[in-house]
Amino acid sequence: MSKGIFITATGTDVGKTYVTSLIVKLLRQSGMNAGYYKAALSGADVVDGELIPGDCKVVADTAGLAVRPQDMVSYIYKTAVSPHLAAQIEKQPIETDVILADFAKAKQQYDYITVEGSGGIICPLRLDEKELMLIDIIKLLKLDIIVVASAELGTINSVVLTIDYARSKEILVKGIILNKYDNGNFLHRDNKKSIERLTGLPVITCVANNDENLTLDAKILCECYKEV
Ligand SMILES: Nc1ncnc2c1ncn2[C@@H]1O[C@H](COP(=O)(O)OP(=O)(O)O)[C@@H](O)[C@H]1O
Ligand SMILES: [Mg+2]
Repeated sequence: MSKGIFITATGTDVGKTYVTSLIVKLLRQSGMNAGYYKAALSGADVVDGELIPGDCKVVADTAGLAVRPQDMVSYIYKTAVSPHLAAQIEKQPIETDVILADFAKAKQQYDYITVEGSGGIICPLRLDEKELMLIDIIKLLKLDIIVVASAELGTINSVVLTIDYARSKEILVKGIILNKYDNGNFLHRDNKKSIERLTGLPVITCVANNDENLTLDAKILCECYKEV
């Protein structure tokens, strides 16, 4: 039976991919058969006429996954906009049965699957005759979430809003990972304490700029994953 977790963030470019790559790296270095999956990626690069999903490449390179980046994601769009808009422009609508089938394949391949979201917790994947939100995918794949957030000013607001929203949709939040954290910065230290108090959740670990490894016991990380 495979286990999974869904990595979301307080927004785009907050560090989901960076943190996810360190998560998968830690699990693999601890001897787990760990892999990665992403439902939809927009803003892919074109290399030799082929669309390359950047997030998947970063995770594969960092964690030493011998998988083609294109095989770690269900939908790849070139246009660098929200997936629902990219899908509309490129006429390739996101279908939940494709995502379910690809996730089932990942389950056959890996014991620990780290699923990266797109954008933040509120991200439309389809807004045409059907409405499909990222939160629907989290529920479809029966995953709990970890929220990646910046350690900087403003993070209390975005973390509490993200977690309140997830809870209002009956999504279980396992904890928070603070990115670009500087333990020498009193604001960062206070943000960590305040977020834990206001959400009642642990900051599982903090990641500093250019960290190459997570400062975290792999066993504690594994406890965040649930059977899928
Ligand atoms: N801790 C970090 N140290 C150095 N660079 C980082 C760190 N976290 C994120 N970045 C950089 O910031 C950019 C956005 O991060 P990324 O993980 O791609 O965000 P997201 O997946 O949430 O959109 C990337 O260029 C990434 O390399
Ligand atoms: Mg990303």
